[in-house]
Amino acid sequence: MAIQIHRGSLLHFPQTTLSPENNYQYFNDGVLVVEDGLISHIGEAQAFFADEHHQTLLQQGKVTIHSGLLLPGFIDSHVHFPQVEVIASYGTQLLDWLNTYTFPAEAQFAQQEYANVQARYFIDQLFAHGTTTASVYATVHPQSVNAFFQAAEQSNARMICGKIMMDRHCPDNLQDTPESGYRDSKTLIERWHNQGRALYAITPRFAPTSSPQQLALAGQLANEHPDAFIQTHISENPNEIAWVKELFPQSRDYLAVYEQYDLVRDRALFGHGIHLNSREFDALSAHGAAIAFCPSSNLFLGSGLFPYHRAKDRHIPVSIASDVGGGTSLSLFKNQADAYKVLQLQGESLNPFESLYLCTQGAAASMGLQDKIGNLNPGSEADFIEIDLTAFPILQQRILRCNQLSEQLFALITLGDERAIERTYVHGNLVYQKEMTLCGHNSTNGLRSLSNGSM
Ligand code: GUN
Ligand code: ZN
Repeated sequence: MAIQIHRGSLLHFPQTTLSPENNYQYFNDGVLVVEDGLISHIGEAQAFFADEHHQTLLQQGKVTIHSGLLLPGFIDSHVHFPQVEVIASYGTQLLDWLNTYTFPAEAQFAQQEYANVQARYFIDQLFAHGTTTASVYATVHPQSVNAFFQAAEQSNARMICGKIMMDRHCPDNLQDTPESGYRDSKTLIERWHNQGRALYAITPRFAPTSSPQQLALAGQLANEHPDAFIQTHISENPNEIAWVKELFPQSRDYLAVYEQYDLVRDRALFGHGIHLNSREFDALSAHGAAIAFCPSSNLFLGSGLFPYHRAKDRHIPVSIASDVGGGTSLSLFKNQADAYKVLQLQGESLNPFESLYLCTQGAAASMGLQDKIGNLNPGSEADFIEIDLTAFPILQQRILRCNQLSEQLFALITLGDERAIERTYVHGNLVYQKEMTLCGHNSTNGLRSLSNGSM
């Protein structure tokens, strides 16, 4: 049996809670024991090493001392793996952004080889940003999902992914049909859902790109596979909402479209939800569905300010997500910093414990996976990260001036990014370690010869 003993500062949220600031567990000098990929113990290091019952464990196990802070791996509840290459594309809002940048990028994933390379690259980038689980949109091509899950399987990572279902209002080469979307998704569920750590999400892109027939078949599939996930977009942008009204004149609001087709239930993750009305919030709550708050995307695409407390007041599970390529970073630190600013613009704030909770235990709870991931509880899967609180000078100086854990965490969230990720462990294995940069020299400056086009 493979046993590893990790010693360092530890922080996590052991339970699902509305007040993470009162329900965290922190060990300044803690120990985390991992046996065969699962956490078997968490506690104070001194007591652990003094206890004679642990002597056999100590003889069998390897002790790693961490100078950084250990946290559960981050969970990104909404991200598009084929869009990494169009991150930071200029000047448009949602519907134009999809047509101008996103659809052409997604068309490339018809080629298996391209999808394989990008899937491996994407998963390695998730790990480098401290994310160990994500709920991922592939493209309309089933081979893009196979590429993604094969890459995830190589690292034994717990990942959720689905083939986009989209049969209208997009380029011909990105369209499926109601029947092929249903059939291909079902085949992928049978191949991947609960295979190792893979989980499948039925993924109608959003109401405008699916015909009523396709939404009906997506709902049928969801009923046939109640433990599969559902992921889609809702109420992100005013023009999108107006378009849904035109396309579905019978529906009283946007969510009602999805409700009509049985797509609103627990394990359903709705991206954005910025402009939902009170009825829609109430209905999400009643159905046990969750919202992925995508702050950097909502700012970048000019979509609006997510009213976090309207969701929290109704106990709707919320998580913070990157939504890359609409979002501007895979770093959930950067997205947390944006979440804070989005709340500030509404006269509210987000305490650092709650913010971290929304990327770990809270995100796991919004997926019904809190018995597996999102925390450091004994029995959970050993997905965790080591944070270097001194990773770069401005962070280091700010951290050294803090007197309290809450202050340190707030500085980390506000200033942090992937530079603060020292190590990432998945199922107990080290899958990422920050490179030692020698002199910071790179042989190329990255500039090709460029035309002098204006924006
Ligand atoms: N709505 C429909 N598709 C997308 C997408 O790819 N990104 C975002 N942000 N919103 C969408
Ligand atoms: Zn999205």
